[in-house]
Amino acid sequence: MNTYKQPLRALFRTNNSLASTMFARTLATATSEPAAPEKAPRIKEFQIYRWNPDDPSSKPHMQTYSVDLNACGPMMLDALLKIKNEQDSTLTLRRSCREGICGSCAMNINGTNTLACLCRINTDTAQTTKVYPLPHMFVIKDLVPDLTQFYKQYKSIKPYLQRTDYPEDGRETLQSIADRKKLDGLYECILCACCSTSCPSYWWNQSEYLGPAILLQTYRWLADSRDHATAERKLALQNSMSLYRCHTIMNCSKTCPKGLNPGLAIARIKKSMAL
Ligand code: SF4
Ligand code: F3S
Ligand code: FES
Repeated sequence: MNTYKQPLRALFRTNNSLASTMFARTLATATSEPAAPEKAPRIKEFQIYRWNPDDPSSKPHMQTYSVDLNACGPMMLDALLKIKNEQDSTLTLRRSCREGICGSCAMNINGTNTLACLCRINTDTAQTTKVYPLPHMFVIKDLVPDLTQFYKQYKSIKPYLQRTDYPEDGRETLQSIADRKKLDGLYECILCACCSTSCPSYWWNQSEYLGPAILLQTYRWLADSRDHATAERKLALQNSMSLYRCHTIMNCSKTCPKGLNPGLAIARIKKSMAL
């Protein structure tokens, strides 16, 4: 009965003695070696736009915060959350996914509209990093822009599949691989509004011009082989403001943090309208 246990015990004994020897050696090394010198702090300054609508005496202003980059994650969102958690809980910003999926952390960092969670901190401590809300939008508080008009415009393009008939078997509407490919570069848009708020035409005509983000979404449905509302969608663009306020300035494509090309999508809509 016990025969298989004997070698096992012997093995445990051997392993135990081996472990104690290794532990003793590690301890000896740990005590004999000098402790690694502490890293010198890398203090980086951030200037952040602040405005509190609940305080009638407060005016919009820039507030400076210092963060030790040795104790901070690499992204701008890490720095902003560190400031909020450790220095000033009143700092207000939107964020959710922290990986470039939800689009909520869009803001203007050092002059560029981008997602704070995808933007690396400039580690040059001699330079101050400036953070503003998305430009030319009403501000709700601090870094939070009012996107009401943006979402209203998105709703206006009926961003869903419209069909006159459905498969009789009640199953999915199929699409060829080639047709599905036409949606690449369009379906990835996360509606962060970085592009629209970088477009001068959108700055000046926001109430009527749809702007690059919403036009890219419009093209996403125009390009979808399963959609039957092409004529209706084009008719809605047949005026001087909704589409034709785009003057090919291309800030939109330059700034998109997802690497999309709304300028190209708009050019394709214009071409299909001309045809
Ligand atoms: Fe954001 Fe790019 Fe979509 Fe514009 S196209 S809303 S910048 S993801
Ligand atoms: Fe504006 Fe882009 Fe057209 S920046 S003008 S939407 S190409
Ligand atoms: Fe979601 Fe940045 S937190 S995109």
